[in-house]
Amino acid sequence: MRETGAGEEDIFAELCEARRRDVPYGRVLSSMCTNPHPVAIRAHQEFVNTNLGDPKLFPGTAAIERRCIGLIGELLHLPDATGYISTGGTESNIQALRTAIQLKHTDRHRANIVVPESAHYSFEKASQMLGIAIRRAPLDDLLRADPSEMAALIDEDTIALVAVAGTTEFGQIDPIEEIGKLAQEQALYLHVDAAFGGFVIPFMEKPAKFDFEVPGVQSITIDPHKMGLSTIPSGGLLYRSESLLKLLEINAQYLTSMVQTSLAGTRSGASAASAYAVMQYLGREGYRQIVATCMKNTRSLQEQLEDLGMEPVIEPVMNIVTVGAGDPVGLRKRLAEKNWYVSTTVHPCALRMVVMPHVTEEVIGAFVTDLKKVL
Ligand SMILES: Cc1ncc(COP(=O)(O)O)c(C=O)c1O
Repeated sequence: MRETGAGEEDIFAELCEARRRDVPYGRVLSSMCTNPHPVAIRAHQEFVNTNLGDPKLFPGTAAIERRCIGLIGELLHLPDATGYISTGGTESNIQALRTAIQLKHTDRHRANIVVPESAHYSFEKASQMLGIAIRRAPLDDLLRADPSEMAALIDEDTIALVAVAGTTEFGQIDPIEEIGKLAQEQALYLHVDAAFGGFVIPFMEKPAKFDFEVPGVQSITIDPHKMGLSTIPSGGLLYRSESLLKLLEINAQYLTSMVQTSLAGTRSGASAASAYAVMQYLGREGYRQIVATCMKNTRSLQEQLEDLGMEPVIEPVMNIVTVGAGDPVGLRKRLAEKNWYVSTTVHPCALRMVVMPHVTEEVIGAFVTDLKKVL
């Protein structure tokens, strides 16, 4: 660090120069993040110095977090759900599995979880951190979890099942009602990862059942900082019952609250304020419009790619397009040279584009024009 401080303008000139090198969202078709809503940004700014790690010092902010969880609970068919605003899907998934371990009082070094092959890599992190084994069940032809394959992997050391509502690669929704039945039959904890789908599925024309409406679902990951249009970081972890969240309580004597359940210690109230503000501002109607536009643009992109001879891997269920493309990895690189960012999937290998709200008709038009040049 320098001995004496630099001038503010010099610092900001350096910061702005760095920012200019970042890829603007209008060239990004690979990310599940997007520009936050202006209302979310404003709320975030109001709460930048709050710390929900010590909630009794911030009772107003803590109340906003509770209201935020209440709104998300309503969306997920359980208005009195409990939970907290986390840093994102990864933290929520890790914490859900921590809960399952605490619930089962088992020898964690023998414990395993059964997840579909499509589960996000955050479960791999959770498995390493928590010292539990992860068993990945093969998918069906439409790249959804196959409940019978999951059932075949369950044994006496299984502590939890995971299902995904909006898979990261293909945007597919697992048959959560069937997996819920399996969880109930086997008396197993069921966690639903709706990090991406949580702010999409409820606003679709014919929403699939994926949330607390399904008996057996004990906890849900849902990320306001993806399709919720909140600022980064804002994730959500919701539980069917408060007793589950309480299983995570750790004594924290020096804090005014005396206990803590979140994974992060110090955590910003800006995440909760931002998510709460944008949900209040948009209401269900606002999100329905956003999702309808994303789905319209998804269909349009898909049709334009089909016209170029690229076959869809699955018909888009949500706002993700995946197509076969000869050499998807090579194509991805050539697109990056033209400053377009798409991603590729692994099984099967395909070109993947997430049609977030910033992927407008104009963006798609410009993207397809450049895609034709690099094909
Ligand atoms: C289904 C799913 N779960 C979890 C995550 C992890 O979320 P985060 O990056 O916010 O930790 C993602 C991220 O894309 C995801 O798609």
